[in-house]
Amino acid sequence: MTLNRAELLQESMTLEPALDGLPAKLFVLKNAQGMRVTLMDIGAAWLSCEIPVGSEVRDVILGVNNMPDHRIQEAYMGVTVGRFANRIAAGKFNIGGQKFQTTVNQAGNTHHGGSIGFDQYRWTAEQKSDQLISFTMHSKDGDQGFPGNLQVTVNYRLSESNELTIEYQAETDKDCPVNLTNHAYFNLMGAESELDCLQHQLKIEAEQYLPVNETGVPLGHFNDVKHSSFDFNEMKTVGRDFLNCSEQKKTSGYDHSFLLKKEHQDGESIVAQCISPDQKVTMNVKTTKPAIQLYTGNFLSGTPNRLGGQYKNHSALALETQFLPDSPNHPEWDQPCPILQAGEAYAHRTCYQFIVN
Ligand code: BGC
Repeated sequence: MTLNRAELLQESMTLEPALDGLPAKLFVLKNAQGMRVTLMDIGAAWLSCEIPVGSEVRDVILGVNNMPDHRIQEAYMGVTVGRFANRIAAGKFNIGGQKFQTTVNQAGNTHHGGSIGFDQYRWTAEQKSDQLISFTMHSKDGDQGFPGNLQVTVNYRLSESNELTIEYQAETDKDCPVNLTNHAYFNLMGAESELDCLQHQLKIEAEQYLPVNETGVPLGHFNDVKHSSFDFNEMKTVGRDFLNCSEQKKTSGYDHSFLLKKEHQDGESIVAQCISPDQKVTMNVKTTKPAIQLYTGNFLSGTPNRLGGQYKNHSALALETQFLPDSPNHPEWDQPCPILQAGEAYAHRTCYQFIVN
């Protein structure tokens, strides 16, 4: 009998230990439609997403097969990103007049939580059923320079309508920026297919996006998407206007936050929709977050794949729901505050739904 991806990963990912010397623990969620989602306690990571499409099974997210490859990949494939997704310029911010410096790990900025982000933690996992798993972790006061003891829970919930909902909860004892997301890369033809993300069609419910400099730090103003290559309000092929403007050239493709229309940030409305080149798989994204980062895998080349080879640039795209990059330094933006107040509850969710046509 041939093993499915979930069974193969269970063996191959645990052969060699994680950073802490112990093997990773893997978990599988499944539903009656035949969808299977594999998760791992290291980084509370989403390792694979198998969807039956006719007689084939497509794994629609990028990933690796073994722990050494997981440890060397720098693409944050499928992991939970925290405390603060995307950049904090120069790792500096202040809260109530007090200055903070967080570890800088990319081009002089704090990127995806700093040198040791939540993606590197071993989370405590509790599988509650075939359709629900809960990951928890504790980040100490001062971790990477961030204030406050932070207690975090990430739940992955799979429904019978092929929706994978990721629920994020957190609590702190000191005010602190918190911005949790998942960094899965999607290729709806299958991760190992020849067709890259530029052939996918995409729609994003956003009228503005955030221009950035060459290191991905926001310039401070918003641009209208209208009459630009950033307009995804009508479904369009990702490659259509690819790299055709100076804003994209700075980041070698799309690597920008789109400000989601306010009425769509309810967790129930579709904020982004992506369709495979053969039109057989549609992914709908819903979220309570105010923004979504479209990243077209501009630096994926060299990242190990599951076949013993490497992914190429643009093998897949990420749609990271989040607060705006560097928002702790932009209180002037008319946006939800990214600072979690001591004693208050952080509660957000994002749902990725896969529809097979
Ligand atoms: C960032 C990219 C980065 C990628 C992998 C994305 O969220 O915006 O600039 O290359 O993550 O780290």
